[in-house]
Amino acid sequence: MNGTMTERPPFRGFAPGDDNPVLETLLAHRSTRAYKDVPVPEAALEIILEAAQRAPTSSNLQSYSIVVVDDQGLRDQICVLGGNQNFVSECGVLLVFCSDISRHIHVCRERGYTYRGDQINTLFVTHGDAILACQNASIAAQSMGFGTCMMGNVRNDPPGVSDLLGLPQYVFASVGLAIGVANEDMGLKPRLPRRVMVSRNRYSDRHREDGLAEYDETMRRTGLYDGRREPLNDVAPDAQDPIPDEAYGWCEHAARRLGGFNQVQRRNFGEFLESKGFSRR
Ligand SMILES: Cc1cc2nc3c(=O)[nH]c(=O)nc-3n(C[C@H](O)[C@H](O)[C@H](O)COP(=O)(O)O)c2cc1C
Repeated sequence: MNGTMTERPPFRGFAPGDDNPVLETLLAHRSTRAYKDVPVPEAALEIILEAAQRAPTSSNLQSYSIVVVDDQGLRDQICVLGGNQNFVSECGVLLVFCSDISRHIHVCRERGYTYRGDQINTLFVTHGDAILACQNASIAAQSMGFGTCMMGNVRNDPPGVSDLLGLPQYVFASVGLAIGVANEDMGLKPRLPRRVMVSRNRYSDRHREDGLAEYDETMRRTGLYDGRREPLNDVAPDAQDPIPDEAYGWCEHAARRLGGFNQVQRRNFGEFLESKGFSRR
C-alpha cells in the first residue's frame, strides 16, 4: 500500500461474522498510556498522516494543521504542561492537531473579502475538523498494531503549548495524539449501555436511571477507578474520600470530573481563544 488507494471497496452487504479488518480495529480500540522505547518508522507515519488528511472536513476547508512532535525535549515539555502524563514523553511520536483558520483568513484578505467567520460556528468547524483528522490517524495507527492515546491536556496550558510549538494567530492546539508501541494492555473500557445513548427518531432519556446504575456496576467491576479517582473539589489533599469503593463508579467520576479541578483549570480557555483571533460569539 502506498497511501494513494482510490478504489471504493465493492458493496458486499454485511453478515455477522464477516471478516472486516476495519471493524476489527474499531472494535478493539483502547487507549494506551505506556509505551516501549521504540520509534514510529517514517513510512508508517506517512500513511498515518495520509489517513488523517483523508478524513472528511467541513466544506473541504481543511481548517486544521498537524505538528509532528518527534523531538524528545519538546515532548517532555508538553508532558509537563499537560499535567505530567508520562505517555506523552514515552510515546514514539506525538501529533498535535491544531484548529487553524489562518490559511482561510489569508485567502480572504488576499482577495479583498471581509472575513466574516468570526463567530462561534467557526470554532466548531475547525475543532471538529481537527478531531476527525486525529481519530482517523488514531485508527490508522491502531490498524498497524500501534497503541495510541489522545491528549486533550494540550489545552491545560494553551499559551504554553502555543509558544512551544510556535503556533501563530488563528491557530490553537485542539488535541494531541500519542502513537507508539504499547507496553500495556488495559483491555476494552466498557461503554454506557446502548439504550442510554441511542434512541430512534426522537430523543429519549427513559433508560437513564437504570442504564447508569448498570454502568456504575460494570465500571466498578473493572477496578479501573481503584487508585485513579478524580480528586475531590475544595478538600484538603489528605482528607479522607467519603465515597466507599463500592459506591465509586462512573456517575461519581463524571460528576467530579465536570464539577472539579479540571474545569477550573480550563476556565481561561475562552479568553485565550479570543486572544488567538477566534470569536466566542
Ligand atoms: C478528545 C479526547 C481527549 C483525550 N485526552 C486525554 C488525555 O489528555 N489524557 C488521557 O490519558 N486520555 C485522554 N483521552 C482518552 C480518554 O480518556 C479515553 O478515550 C476514554 O477514557 C475511553 O477509554 P478508551 O479510549 O481506552 O476506550 C482523550 C480522549 C479524547 C476523545
